[in-house]
Amino acid sequence: MPAPIEEPLQGRNNAKPAQRLTPAQQAQWQDQGYLVLPGFKPAPDLQALRRRAAQIVEAFEPGPRLSVFSTRDQARQAADQAFLDSASGIHCFFEEEAFDESGHLRQAKALSINKIGHALHDLDPVFDAFSRGPALAGLGEDLGLKDPRIWQSMLIFKQPGIGGEVRWHQDATFLHSTPITVTGFWFALEDATRDNGCLWVQPGGHQGPLRERFVRRTAATQAADIPPSELGLEALDATPWPEISQAVPLEVPAGTLVCLHGLLPHCSAPNRSAVSRQAYTLHTVDALSHWSPTNWLQRPAAMPPRGF
Ligand code: FE2
Repeated sequence: MPAPIEEPLQGRNNAKPAQRLTPAQQAQWQDQGYLVLPGFKPAPDLQALRRRAAQIVEAFEPGPRLSVFSTRDQARQAADQAFLDSASGIHCFFEEEAFDESGHLRQAKALSINKIGHALHDLDPVFDAFSRGPALAGLGEDLGLKDPRIWQSMLIFKQPGIGGEVRWHQDATFLHSTPITVTGFWFALEDATRDNGCLWVQPGGHQGPLRERFVRRTAATQAADIPPSELGLEALDATPWPEISQAVPLEVPAGTLVCLHGLLPHCSAPNRSAVSRQAYTLHTVDALSHWSPTNWLQRPAAMPPRGF
């Protein structure tokens, strides 16, 4: 369980009035599939979120290390189960390079966590306050979202030295609906630079096809060509990922909000610098679209996704 909140919520952004997008910004969203909004969140909001994230990590008790499992399959099953459970919980995930060969952390726990996910916005009051309010509701309207529901939240640490690469992907791979309506909201909690692993996007790439889907094996997918583990990637389209010459780095100061169309290819490099690159992300899917039963993320009936 996360630590209790020891101080009053600070920097709540709920009262911030909606700041509408200009026609030029709306045109860029349509044409390019992304939008960069500097200064969307004030510094106190960023500090409140980072402090709360640090409390959650501090309270996190890692389970048995992978090395104590007798087989790789058991380790993988345990990891898959923790991942699935995090759909409606708050779970800390380690960096791949966090452990040495003997299964011990190479550095302090607080510097070893890759991310916290995936229901922070519904279960933690500080994250709830950051994730909702008139500013985001107005922005959602201006982006053309009809009835956005927040399905997923992640605090991504991108730790100094070991923060791993996130390969090219489209968010619709992981949060699929018919029609595709997933939209990403990426908040820079710290300055993001090329050195510490900022986002890279392919402008206009959202007009291409969905290349792959991350599916959960169900009775309906048993017969499909899905790997014999519970979770796997299903290839849909062979369109290659962009060359780096087709991509642009989004070097942005803390407080910036980057909006990402669900089909926009994006990635980030590993962080080999001495400073972290924390970001907080929300992903919405329109309630009017059909949520796929093969998505990894499924919510219990008592915990339906809510909007802004
Ligand atoms: Fe993404």
